[in-house]
Amino acid sequence: MPHQSPDTPESTVGGGAGRGLDGLTVNDLRASREEWWDDGLTGVLLRWIPADTRTILDVGCGIGTAAHALLPRLENTSYLGIDADEERLRTARSALAGAAYAARARFRHGRAEQLPCADHDTDLVLSSMTLQHVATVPPVLAEIRRVLGVPGRFIAVEPDNLSNAFYFDGPLEELNGALRRLFAALREARRPRDGAIGPALPSMVDRAGLTVLDSSAHSVGRLARLQPAELFERARRVVRIASSQARLVASHPIVEDCLRAIDRSETATTVDCPGFGGQVVLIFVTVADAR
Ligand SMILES: C[S@@+](CC[C@H](N)C(=O)[O-])C[C@H]1O[C@@H](n2cnc3c(N)ncnc32)[C@H](O)[C@@H]1O
Repeated sequence: MPHQSPDTPESTVGGGAGRGLDGLTVNDLRASREEWWDDGLTGVLLRWIPADTRTILDVGCGIGTAAHALLPRLENTSYLGIDADEERLRTARSALAGAAYAARARFRHGRAEQLPCADHDTDLVLSSMTLQHVATVPPVLAEIRRVLGVPGRFIAVEPDNLSNAFYFDGPLEELNGALRRLFAALREARRPRDGAIGPALPSMVDRAGLTVLDSSAHSVGRLARLQPAELFERARRVVRIASSQARLVASHPIVEDCLRAIDRSETATTVDCPGFGGQVVLIFVTVADAR
Protein backbone atom coordinates (compact mmCIF):
# COMPACT_ATOMS: atom_id res chain seq x y z
CA MET A 1 0.00 0.00 0.00
CA PRO A 2 1.63 3.25 -1.05
CA HIS A 3 -0.48 5.52 1.17
CA GLN A 4 0.73 5.33 4.76
CA SER A 5 -1.57 5.35 7.74
CA PRO A 6 -2.80 8.81 8.78
CA ASP A 7 -1.58 8.22 12.34
CA THR A 8 2.04 7.81 11.30
CA PRO A 9 4.03 8.55 14.46
CA GLU A 10 5.94 11.82 14.72
CA SER A 11 9.30 10.04 14.87
CA THR A 12 8.80 8.59 11.41
CA VAL A 13 6.94 11.57 9.92
CA GLY A 14 9.73 13.90 10.94
CA GLY A 15 12.68 11.55 10.90
CA GLY A 16 15.10 10.36 8.28
CA ALA A 17 17.08 11.94 5.46
CA GLY A 18 17.76 15.08 7.49
CA ARG A 19 14.05 15.90 7.70
CA GLY A 20 12.82 17.84 10.72
CA LEU A 21 9.56 17.71 12.68
CA ASP A 22 7.93 19.54 9.77
CA GLY A 23 9.10 16.87 7.27
CA LEU A 24 11.40 19.40 5.57
CA THR A 25 15.17 19.45 5.21
CA VAL A 26 17.02 22.65 6.13
CA ASN A 27 17.45 23.32 2.41
CA ASP A 28 13.70 22.87 1.74
CA LEU A 29 12.95 25.33 4.54
CA ARG A 30 15.51 27.88 3.33
CA ALA A 31 14.26 27.69 -0.29
CA SER A 32 10.65 28.04 0.80
CA ARG A 33 11.38 31.10 2.96
CA GLU A 34 13.40 32.75 0.17
CA GLU A 35 10.41 32.24 -2.10
CA TRP A 36 7.67 33.64 0.08
CA TRP A 37 8.82 35.59 3.14
CA ASP A 38 8.79 39.05 1.59
CA ASP A 39 8.56 42.68 2.71
CA GLY A 40 4.76 42.44 2.53
CA LEU A 41 4.67 39.80 5.29
CA THR A 42 7.31 41.65 7.33
CA GLY A 43 5.19 44.81 7.00
CA VAL A 44 2.09 43.00 8.29
CA LEU A 45 4.05 41.75 11.32
CA LEU A 46 5.58 45.17 12.03
CA ARG A 47 2.13 46.71 12.02
CA TRP A 48 1.23 44.49 15.00
CA ILE A 49 4.52 44.53 16.92
CA PRO A 50 4.36 47.41 19.43
CA ALA A 51 7.30 49.79 18.98
CA ASP A 52 8.37 49.35 22.63
CA THR A 53 8.59 45.55 22.43
CA ARG A 54 11.59 44.39 24.49
CA THR A 55 11.89 40.80 23.29
CA ILE A 56 10.35 38.72 20.55
CA LEU A 57 10.10 35.07 21.54
CA ASP A 58 9.91 33.09 18.29
CA VAL A 59 8.44 29.65 18.98
CA GLY A 60 9.61 27.14 16.36
CA CYS A 61 12.09 29.64 14.93
CA GLY A 62 13.56 27.25 12.35
CA ILE A 63 16.59 28.86 10.71
CA GLY A 64 15.75 32.27 12.23
CA THR A 65 14.15 33.92 9.20
CA ALA A 66 12.05 36.18 11.46
CA ALA A 67 15.16 37.58 13.17
CA HIS A 68 16.60 38.72 9.83
CA ALA A 69 13.29 40.19 8.72
CA LEU A 70 12.37 42.03 11.93
CA LEU A 71 15.49 43.05 13.87
CA PRO A 72 16.82 45.55 11.30
CA ARG A 73 13.50 47.41 11.64
CA LEU A 74 13.21 47.19 15.46
CA GLU A 75 16.38 48.72 16.84
CA ASN A 76 15.53 48.38 20.54
CA THR A 77 14.14 44.86 20.43
CA SER A 78 15.95 41.62 21.11
CA TYR A 79 15.01 38.21 19.81
CA LEU A 80 15.00 34.71 21.30
CA GLY A 81 14.38 31.86 18.88
CA ILE A 82 13.34 28.50 20.33
CA ASP A 83 13.28 25.30 18.33
CA ALA A 84 13.30 21.60 19.08
CA ASP A 85 15.64 20.88 16.16
CA GLU A 86 19.39 21.25 16.82
CA GLU A 87 20.29 21.29 13.12
CA ARG A 88 17.94 24.23 12.52
CA LEU A 89 19.47 26.05 15.49
CA ARG A 90 23.02 25.49 14.21
CA THR A 91 22.01 26.83 10.80
CA ALA A 92 20.26 29.80 12.43
CA ARG A 93 23.33 30.68 14.53
CA SER A 94 25.73 30.53 11.61
CA ALA A 95 23.39 32.56 9.35
CA LEU A 96 23.37 35.28 11.98
CA ALA A 97 27.14 35.62 12.25
CA GLY A 98 28.28 39.05 11.07
CA ALA A 99 24.79 40.57 10.96
CA ALA A 100 24.59 44.09 12.43
CA TYR A 101 21.87 42.92 14.83
CA ALA A 102 23.61 39.65 15.84
CA ALA A 103 24.15 40.83 19.43
CA ARG A 104 20.39 41.21 19.88
CA ALA A 105 19.51 37.65 18.78
CA ARG A 106 19.85 34.33 20.59
CA PHE A 107 18.73 30.83 19.76
CA ARG A 108 17.92 28.18 22.29
CA HIS A 109 16.84 24.57 22.20
CA GLY A 110 13.36 23.93 23.61
CA ARG A 111 9.93 22.58 22.94
CA ALA A 112 6.84 24.67 22.36
CA GLU A 113 5.03 22.49 24.90
CA GLN A 114 7.48 23.50 27.65
CA LEU A 115 9.02 26.84 26.81
CA PRO A 116 12.33 27.51 28.60
CA CYS A 117 11.04 30.88 29.88
CA ALA A 118 9.73 32.22 33.19
CA ASP A 119 6.06 33.06 33.75
CA HIS A 120 4.89 36.42 32.38
CA ASP A 121 8.41 37.33 31.29
CA THR A 122 7.79 37.99 27.59
CA ASP A 123 6.03 40.87 25.90
CA LEU A 124 5.71 39.37 22.42
CA VAL A 125 5.45 35.79 21.20
CA LEU A 126 5.62 35.01 17.51
CA SER A 127 4.98 31.63 15.96
CA SER A 128 5.27 31.27 12.25
CA MET A 129 4.34 28.05 10.46
CA THR A 130 4.97 26.09 13.66
CA LEU A 131 1.54 25.28 15.07
CA GLN A 132 0.63 23.45 11.85
CA HIS A 133 3.30 20.91 12.89
CA VAL A 134 2.21 20.51 16.51
CA ALA A 135 0.12 17.44 17.38
CA THR A 136 -1.82 19.02 20.25
CA VAL A 137 -2.06 22.79 19.97
CA PRO A 138 -4.02 23.85 23.14
CA PRO A 139 -1.16 23.03 25.59
CA VAL A 140 1.20 25.12 23.42
CA LEU A 141 -1.24 28.04 23.49
CA ALA A 142 -1.50 27.64 27.28
CA GLU A 143 2.30 27.74 27.45
CA ILE A 144 2.39 30.90 25.31
CA ARG A 145 -0.16 32.47 27.62
CA ARG A 146 1.92 31.45 30.64
CA VAL A 147 5.05 33.25 29.39
CA LEU A 148 3.24 36.39 28.20
CA GLY A 149 3.05 39.34 30.56
CA VAL A 150 0.22 41.88 30.56
CA PRO A 151 0.46 43.74 28.28
CA GLY A 152 1.67 40.96 26.06
CA ARG A 153 0.95 40.06 22.46
CA PHE A 154 0.84 36.83 20.49
CA ILE A 155 1.16 36.84 16.70
CA ALA A 156 0.63 33.59 14.83
CA VAL A 157 1.31 33.12 11.13
CA GLU A 158 -0.22 29.85 9.95
CA PRO A 159 -1.28 28.61 6.53
CA ASP A 160 -4.19 27.00 4.81
CA ASN A 161 -2.09 24.63 2.74
CA LEU A 162 -5.18 23.44 0.88
CA SER A 163 -5.08 26.80 -0.91
CA ASN A 164 -1.76 26.07 -2.66
CA ALA A 165 -2.13 27.14 -6.29
CA PHE A 166 0.04 27.57 -9.38
CA TYR A 167 -0.46 30.21 -12.05
CA PHE A 168 1.03 30.76 -15.48
CA ASP A 169 -0.63 33.60 -17.37
CA GLY A 170 -3.81 32.50 -15.55
CA PRO A 171 -4.82 29.71 -13.18
CA LEU A 172 -3.55 26.20 -13.99
CA GLU A 173 -6.91 24.64 -13.17
CA GLU A 174 -6.19 20.95 -13.71
CA LEU A 175 -2.91 21.15 -11.80
CA ASN A 176 -4.52 23.09 -8.95
CA GLY A 177 -7.31 20.50 -8.64
CA ALA A 178 -4.75 17.67 -8.47
CA LEU A 179 -2.59 19.63 -6.01
CA ARG A 180 -5.55 20.21 -3.73
CA ARG A 181 -6.07 16.42 -3.54
CA LEU A 182 -2.36 15.94 -2.76
CA PHE A 183 -2.41 18.58 -0.01
CA ALA A 184 -5.62 17.06 1.40
CA ALA A 185 -3.84 13.66 1.53
CA LEU A 186 -0.84 15.33 3.17
CA ARG A 187 -3.14 16.93 5.73
CA GLU A 188 -4.69 13.54 6.55
CA ALA A 189 -1.31 11.78 6.72
CA ARG A 190 -0.03 14.28 9.28
CA ARG A 191 -3.11 14.32 11.54
CA PRO A 192 -3.54 15.32 14.32
CA ARG A 193 -1.24 18.05 12.98
CA ASP A 194 -3.19 20.37 10.70
CA GLY A 195 -1.63 21.97 7.62
CA ALA A 196 -4.77 24.07 7.26
CA ILE A 197 -4.77 25.35 10.86
CA GLY A 198 -4.60 29.04 9.85
CA PRO A 199 -8.34 29.77 9.72
CA ALA A 200 -9.02 27.52 12.77
CA LEU A 201 -6.59 29.38 14.98
CA PRO A 202 -8.59 32.46 16.09
CA SER A 203 -11.13 30.27 17.94
CA MET A 204 -8.37 28.16 19.47
CA VAL A 205 -6.56 31.30 20.65
CA ASP A 206 -9.81 32.68 22.05
CA ARG A 207 -10.43 29.42 23.95
CA ALA A 208 -6.87 29.65 25.33
CA GLY A 209 -7.93 32.85 27.13
CA LEU A 210 -6.25 35.43 24.88
CA THR A 211 -8.19 38.31 23.32
CA VAL A 212 -8.15 38.06 19.53
CA LEU A 213 -7.61 41.52 17.99
CA ASP A 214 -7.38 40.55 14.36
CA SER A 215 -7.06 37.64 11.96
CA SER A 216 -6.29 38.49 8.37
CA ALA A 217 -5.58 36.35 5.32
CA HIS A 218 -2.60 37.16 3.11
CA SER A 219 -1.38 35.43 0.05
CA VAL A 220 2.31 34.67 -0.06
CA GLY A 221 4.17 34.06 -3.27
CA ARG A 222 4.10 36.22 -6.34
CA LEU A 223 3.97 35.97 -10.10
CA ALA A 224 7.30 36.62 -11.78
CA ARG A 225 8.39 36.62 -15.38
CA LEU A 226 9.75 33.14 -16.07
CA GLN A 227 10.03 30.38 -18.64
CA PRO A 228 7.26 27.76 -18.44
CA ALA A 229 9.88 25.04 -17.82
CA GLU A 230 11.06 26.85 -14.66
CA LEU A 231 7.57 26.95 -13.22
CA PHE A 232 6.77 23.33 -14.01
CA GLU A 233 10.09 22.17 -12.50
CA ARG A 234 9.13 24.05 -9.37
CA ALA A 235 5.69 22.39 -9.39
CA ARG A 236 7.40 18.97 -9.66
CA ARG A 237 9.60 19.87 -6.69
CA VAL A 238 6.55 20.90 -4.63
CA VAL A 239 4.85 17.61 -5.51
CA ARG A 240 8.01 15.66 -4.58
CA ILE A 241 8.30 17.38 -1.19
CA ALA A 242 4.58 17.15 -0.35
CA SER A 243 4.38 13.49 -1.37
CA SER A 244 7.43 12.59 0.70
CA GLN A 245 5.95 14.47 3.70
CA ALA A 246 2.70 12.53 3.18
CA ARG A 247 4.74 9.35 2.63
CA LEU A 248 3.11 8.76 -0.74
CA VAL A 249 5.24 6.90 -3.29
CA ALA A 250 5.60 8.31 -6.81
CA SER A 251 3.22 5.65 -8.18
CA HIS A 252 0.37 6.65 -5.84
CA PRO A 253 -2.64 7.76 -7.95
CA ILE A 254 -2.75 11.19 -6.29
CA VAL A 255 0.93 11.83 -7.04
CA GLU A 256 0.62 10.41 -10.57
CA ASP A 257 -2.36 12.74 -11.16
CA CYS A 258 -0.29 15.76 -10.13
CA LEU A 259 2.68 14.77 -12.29
CA ARG A 260 0.40 14.10 -15.29
CA ALA A 261 -1.33 17.44 -14.75
CA ILE A 262 2.06 19.17 -14.72
CA ASP A 263 3.10 17.37 -17.95
CA ARG A 264 -0.19 18.26 -19.65
CA SER A 265 -0.05 21.90 -18.51
CA GLU A 266 3.52 22.11 -19.76
CA THR A 267 2.56 20.63 -23.14
CA ALA A 268 -0.36 23.06 -23.39
CA THR A 269 1.98 26.04 -23.04
CA THR A 270 3.26 25.09 -26.50
CA VAL A 271 5.50 28.08 -27.08
CA ASP A 272 8.64 28.13 -24.98
CA CYS A 273 8.41 31.81 -24.21
CA PRO A 274 8.24 33.53 -20.83
CA GLY A 275 5.06 34.49 -19.06
CA PHE A 276 4.08 35.48 -15.53
CA GLY A 277 3.81 32.54 -13.20
CA GLY A 278 4.29 31.39 -9.63
CA GLN A 279 2.90 29.58 -6.61
CA VAL A 280 0.57 31.26 -4.13
CA VAL A 281 -0.61 30.09 -0.68
CA LEU A 282 -2.95 31.74 1.83
CA ILE A 283 -1.59 32.41 5.28
CA PHE A 284 -3.54 33.74 8.26
CA VAL A 285 -2.01 36.25 10.66
CA THR A 286 -3.81 36.05 14.01
CA VAL A 287 -3.06 38.70 16.61
CA ALA A 288 -4.12 38.36 20.24
CA ASP A 289 -3.42 40.08 23.55
CA ALA A 290 -2.96 38.65 27.02
CA ARG A 291 -5.53 39.92 29.50
C1 LIG B 1 8.06 25.17 8.99
S1 LIG B 1 9.24 25.52 10.21
C2 LIG B 1 8.98 27.24 10.47
C3 LIG B 1 10.21 27.93 10.91
C4 LIG B 1 10.10 29.44 11.10
N1 LIG B 1 9.15 29.79 12.12
C5 LIG B 1 9.76 30.11 9.78
O1 LIG B 1 8.63 30.56 9.60
O2 LIG B 1 10.64 30.14 8.92
C6 LIG B 1 8.54 24.83 11.70
C7 LIG B 1 9.56 24.79 12.84
O3 LIG B 1 8.89 24.44 14.04
C8 LIG B 1 9.73 23.56 14.78
N2 LIG B 1 8.86 22.78 15.66
C9 LIG B 1 7.86 21.96 15.29
N3 LIG B 1 7.26 21.46 16.39
C10 LIG B 1 7.92 21.98 17.46
C11 LIG B 1 7.77 21.86 18.87
N4 LIG B 1 6.81 21.07 19.39
N5 LIG B 1 8.60 22.54 19.67
C12 LIG B 1 9.57 23.35 19.16
N6 LIG B 1 9.77 23.50 17.82
C13 LIG B 1 8.94 22.83 16.99
C14 LIG B 1 10.42 22.73 13.73
O4 LIG B 1 11.61 22.14 14.22
C15 LIG B 1 10.66 23.75 12.63
O5 LIG B 1 11.91 24.35 12.71
